[in-house]
Amino acid sequence: MTRRRLPALRAGLSPQRRLAGMLTGLVVLLLLTMVLAQLREVLDLPSQMLLYLLAVVVVALVGGLVPALAAAAAAAALLAYYFIAPDSFAVGGLNDVVALVVFVLVAGVVSSAVGLAARRTREAETHATANAASREELSMLAEEQAALRRVATLVARGMPPAEVFAAVAEEIGHVLATDGTVIVRLDPDGAATLVAGTGAYADVMPVGSRWNLEPPLALAGALRTGRPARLDDIGQAPGAYGDAIRGLRIRSGVAVPIVVEGRLWGAIAIGAKGERFPADTEQRMAGFTELIGTAIANADSRAQLTASRARIVAAADDARRRIERDLHDGTQQRLIALGLELRLTQAMVPAELPKLQTQIGRITHELTEATEELREMARGIHPAILSTGGLGPALRTLARRAAIPVELDIRTGTRWADPIEVAAYYVVSEALTNTTRHARASHAHVTVEQHDALLHLTIRDDGTGGADPARGSGLIGLRDRVQALGGSIEVNSRPSEGTAIVVELPLQPDR
Ligand SMILES: Nc1ncnc2c1ncn2[C@@H]1O[C@H](COP(=O)(O)OP(=O)(O)O)[C@@H](O)[C@H]1O
Ligand SMILES: [Mg+2]
Repeated sequence: MTRRRLPALRAGLSPQRRLAGMLTGLVVLLLLTMVLAQLREVLDLPSQMLLYLLAVVVVALVGGLVPALAAAAAAAALLAYYFIAPDSFAVGGLNDVVALVVFVLVAGVVSSAVGLAARRTREAETHATANAASREELSMLAEEQAALRRVATLVARGMPPAEVFAAVAEEIGHVLATDGTVIVRLDPDGAATLVAGTGAYADVMPVGSRWNLEPPLALAGALRTGRPARLDDIGQAPGAYGDAIRGLRIRSGVAVPIVVEGRLWGAIAIGAKGERFPADTEQRMAGFTELIGTAIANADSRAQLTASRARIVAAADDARRRIERDLHDGTQQRLIALGLELRLTQAMVPAELPKLQTQIGRITHELTEATEELREMARGIHPAILSTGGLGPALRTLARRAAIPVELDIRTGTRWADPIEVAAYYVVSEALTNTTRHARASHAHVTVEQHDALLHLTIRDDGTGGADPARGSGLIGLRDRVQALGGSIEVNSRPSEGTAIVVELPLQPDR
């Protein structure tokens, strides 16, 4: 904030005013004495004294107490010399002495009263000026705080950095009354990419444009040193950027670096057509650059978190796929072969050993059942049909095997990346299992469609409703899986209104 010096509140009158008082006293007393000398016969002593008193008051008004006291003393001397005992300082009688003493006392009291009043007036004026200044300062501070709060809210809500950049550029523009604001990112090759711009800048320097910045531009300074920099006269500033801002008639600029987790990330620069920004500008911009730094750091760690969740889910899916293949190609095949051999062995058993025949028949039957069970288990670990046929055939198998009628509405035949298909499959599988187990529904309806870069899944049933992720592990597992892909899941399940699960999966990892 601007720190203005407040004027000293108990200021007396200035030396100039005192000097003016002295001069006034000299002139007024001189004139008055000349006039009264002419009227000596007409006016009596009290009237003369009153006129001198008036002169002293005038002097007090102009120059305050000190000149007024001097004037009072001079007036007493003049009265004694010219009017009491003409042409001498001798004083006639007690009456005259009392009159003179009273005159000096009254003049002193009146002067100090007048001087005090003058000082009070001046103090009140000084107060008023100081109040107006601090009121202005307060309202500026309040405006700045409100702007920072708005930006902080965006940051806290996890808005995409691009939105935070645009908001900061706008807010700084207002708070610091700039003619243009830009935010740039420092690229590895040392050039700067514009990520937000306002005012006149926005037209000439679109978001995404790249600039090579050279000293003495303030932006170049901030990006080179990692410290705030300013340039009060753009003058001959070189390069395309220099030309661009000269074209906008910008004359002065200030740039402040943006630091993200200790690393120089970019900078904010403001420009004005006027001469130079106030000295505290860099400090006022720092609050905004800190918020931008936080927004970028947050977005970075969110992206890293999502990526690592996706990696964990993908690794788990990979392992399941491998186990399923090993079971299918290895164990299952060996069990089937074993079953065939047993049947051959059974055929070779002599007819006179019927018990042995029955025994081998029973073992063969058990073996077939065990093999079938193993196939089911393998399917639960990972449905092979998903890898071979894709989402459509896999969902059709699910629907066919469900215990209640399932209406399938698949409005796309495309194949998607493995993680998407696997996630979609598990969502439908868990939802249908829940419907069968908890809903007492008469049927279920599944929709799969693609809009823009999103895969939409809806699974509805007409059952009891009241699904609550907090009461089990299935729905929570689905949410983890969907969020790991950057998607969203919504469970609408009011009691007695059935259940609808709506899932959106982004088809491009980085929307
Ligand atoms: N389609 C549904 N209709 C009615 N209730 C449901 C439905 N799906 C889930 N629920 C309720 O929500 C709870 C949580 O479901 P879920 O997370 O899948 O756990 P789980 O199925 O292992 O119990 C279930 O225990 C059940 O009470
Ligand atoms: Mg469940």
